[in-house]
Amino acid sequence: PCKLVILLSGSGSNLQAFIDACKNQNLPDTEISAVISNKADAFGLIRAKEAGIATACIDHKQFASREDFDEALLQKIDEFGANLIVLAGFMRILTPRFVRHYLGRLINIHPSLLPKYPGLHTHQRAIDAGDKEAGATVHFVTEELDGGPPIIQAKIPIFDGDDAATLADRVLSKEHTIYPLAAQWFAEGRLKLQNSKAVLDDKNIPESGI
Ligand code: GAR
Repeated sequence: PCKLVILLSGSGSNLQAFIDACKNQNLPDTEISAVISNKADAFGLIRAKEAGIATACIDHKQFASREDFDEALLQKIDEFGANLIVLAGFMRILTPRFVRHYLGRLINIHPSLLPKYPGLHTHQRAIDAGDKEAGATVHFVTEELDGGPPIIQAKIPIFDGDDAATLADRVLSKEHTIYPLAAQWFAEGRLKLQNSKAVLDDKNIPESGI
């Protein structure tokens, strides 16, 4: 099977979606080898333990530099022998060395319709801009922050009464569907990063994702 290592910093509802998908045979070709958090109090670590998954915490505050932190993270990930590294609410910017080491086997989910709203506060920014729709994007990670080739996007309408919290909730529930799906494609060998483009079944994925 394709071994996943999932990195997170918080609640881990996306991790839960992977755990549930494994249990329900919706991820037949994968296993979650480990969950690593940069925060000791991340609820995602509790979810992992309850599911019997190995966990590790590497606290970024214990390191003098971003480079040192990423080096420790990289060593820990490689101890678990990961085939695919899944960023699931992992709120640290990764160094070029780290990204290059895992290029083509490192994916992220971002709560906006990229290329719109890289970075933070995506839902508030979409509301403030008067956008009619919001969403989430799964993409390969490259050295450009939230700028790697999109794999799959989910869109939802923004309603008049929405605030950042109601929007985040509805986007999250879509995230829980598209993220395990992208991982399953990868595990099946159908999804690749080729010549800086995301490719599914030998066809380039469009800029807006699938
Ligand atoms: C998700 O909405 C994810 O898209 C976002 O953090 C949330 C984590 O939720 N990721 C980022 O903002 C990455 N910059 P979760 O911990 O419940 O999965």
